[in-house]
Order: sequence, then structure tokens, then C-alpha cells
Amino acid sequence: MPTPYGNAYIRSVGRFVPAGRLTNQDLEKMVDTSDEWIRARTGIRERRILEPGLGNSYMAIRAARECLERADVNPIDLDAIIVGTVTPDTPFASTAGLVQQALGARRAWGFDLSSACSGFIFSLTVGAQMIESGRSQKVLVIGSDVMSSVVDYADRNTCVLFGDGAGAVLLERVPEAGYGILDFVHRVDGSGAEFLNIKAGGSRMPASIETVKNKLHFVFQDGRQVYKRAVTEMANVSLQVLANNHLNGKDLALFVPHQANLRIIEACAARLAIGMDRVVVNIDRYANTNGATIPLCLYDICVEQPRVNKGDYLLMSAFGAGFSWGSILLRWWQ
Ligand code: UT7
Repeated sequence: MPTPYGNAYIRSVGRFVPAGRLTNQDLEKMVDTSDEWIRARTGIRERRILEPGLGNSYMAIRAARECLERADVNPIDLDAIIVGTVTPDTPFASTAGLVQQALGARRAWGFDLSSACSGFIFSLTVGAQMIESGRSQKVLVIGSDVMSSVVDYADRNTCVLFGDGAGAVLLERVPEAGYGILDFVHRVDGSGAEFLNIKAGGSRMPASIETVKNKLHFVFQDGRQVYKRAVTEMANVSLQVLANNHLNGKDLALFVPHQANLRIIEACAARLAIGMDRVVVNIDRYANTNGATIPLCLYDICVEQPRVNKGDYLLMSAFGAGFSWGSILLRWWQ
């Protein structure tokens, strides 16, 4: 649907991944697992781990700086900063505020958006609508998570899955009609909360000696339940957003999925009838970085190995805790 002030588009990207690598071989020494199991079941070979003592903002700030430098944009010109994360430096103040201060983005307002693995695409949609409303000209959207801070490295069910990282994009109004962020379909279903969560540390069960002793501050996941819903729902919303725009899988230049499991990605691609040569995958290098997976993929296709061109249709899709999920359709400009 055309918007009165024009669509938002992704003008620039930036990223930060920590130097520290945790390989499958390292994990073999920590829990009862194997490189073979991890690669076959998930597609992951290694993940990056942030140095202890450095919080989420450390990564988010670095991704943001690179993003703005690439576009030669002065932070003072930012209208807003949105950070999709579930691992802020502290429950509050927001990571967005810490980024604002570090950048010197004195005109900007901002906030953190908590929706687990859907945090980036939901943030991107909010940022895009701020541009479309005509009230904002430059919105910085960041996906950043320090999953190593909430993972139990004695639990083989979860510790092999996650990594740390941050990605940032700069949104502006697209100069030409028919391009930029075109449409989205997003959903949330709280009946999935029991299958993927962190039980303690919130208002219902604040931190106590008991919660720490019982390891209730770590990620819990019923992998099979999440897997089934992820495959179905990511494909459903992807097909829906394509159909709403009279497109199908053949029209897509690239599918940019959340990186939780290579098998989920392959199953979604098959339902969309997209060959894996048109699917962006970096789970082997970074694992599941939660809010950062999609901007890290965008960085790969824009900077590391550029493979996106003006006019290309891209579809992003994510599924995560909540359950929450969604897809965004965009047409690349520049
Ligand atoms: O990003 C947020 C959304 N999250 C997701 O989308 C993740 C969705 N879930 C998954 O990706 C998969 O369910 C997992 C990768 C988490 C697990 O793969 P799976 O094929 O569903 O395995 P499973 O949970 O059914 O476990 C199979 C077996 C079990 O042993 P038994 O009960 O069959 O004897 C597990 O105990 O594999 C065992 N297992 C492991 N073995 C070696 C679980 N984790 C490991 C491990 N190494 N790390």
C-alpha cells in the first residue's frame, strides 16, 4: 500500500562480532556433544562470544558507528534509535540510550524492543513506519544480543545453539516510489511462552539465591516444539506477505531468514520454492545471535560479498520466543 510520505529503505549497514570464537570442538570438551551432532542438527560450526564484563551496548555502539560511517551520516542527524534485544546491559536504562550517548546523537529519542528472535524485524517495521509517517527522516535500527550471558554452558540442549553479535541499519525515506520496505506480516502468540523462555529475573520471579541455584536465569527451550512451529509459521507469513503483493518465491532475489537452525531455513525455503542459492546463510559462522541474525546476514550481502542489486525483491523472516514471528518484504534501492 503506497504511503503518503514514501517508504523507508535501508541506506546503510554495520556490524560487530566479537573476536572470541567458541567452536564445536571447544564445546565437545564442555558438554556431552559432538561436532557431528551439532553440524548435522543445526548447521553450526562456531559462534562468537563477547568478552565477559562487556555488555550489549559495547557491540551495539560499534555496529551503529560502522553503519553511520558507511553512509557518512552525522549522529546528530538521527531522529530515533531502536534496539531489538533481550539481553540489554541492565533491565533498564535502555541500550538505545547508551548508544545515543556514545554516538552523541543529541536530537534522537529511542527505546529497546523486546521480542527475542523477532526483535530485529519488529524493530525494523516500527522504524519504517516512523519514516513512512513523515515524522522521522533518519532512524537507526539495531539488533544486538549477548546470548552467552543467558546460556548455561553445562546444558547441551541450548549451549551449542547461540552466539553473540550485533548488526545495525540506517533507515531513510526512499527517493523513488515502489522501492524500500513494502510490506510486512507479523504475529505474536503467547501460548508459546512455555516452550522458550527465561523463567526468573522478571517481576514474577525476581532474582534470589534460589533462582540462581536452580539455574532459572538461563534460556530454557523445548527444541522440538519450537522447531515445528518455526517451520510452519515462518513459511506461512512469508507466503502471505508475498501473496498480498502478488508475488511468489520465484520473484525473490534473496530470502534472508533468522538463523536458528539450517534445517528450519531449508524447510522454509522449500515451501517458498526458493533454491538454497538464493537463501542467505551464515549460521555456520555465528550460530543463533537472536536479534542480530538478520542484520548480520544483511551485512554479508551488502558488504562482505555484495550480492544485492537495485530492484531486487528480498524477504526477511524470523521466528522466536513469545512465540513471535513475521516476514518483511522489501525492494532494494541504490
Ligand atoms: O531462535 C529461536 C527459535 N529457536 C529455534 O528455532 C530452535 C528450534 N529447535 C531446533 O532447532 C532443534 O529442535 C534443536 C537443534 C534445538 C534440537 O534438534 P532436534 O533434532 O529437535 O533434537 P531433539 O531435541 O529432538 O533431541 C534429539 C536427541 C535427544 O536425545 P534422545 O532423547 O533422543 O536420547 C537429545 O538429548 O539429541 C540429544 N541432544 C544432543 N545430543 C548431542 C540434544 N542436544 C544435544 C547436543 N549434542 N548438543
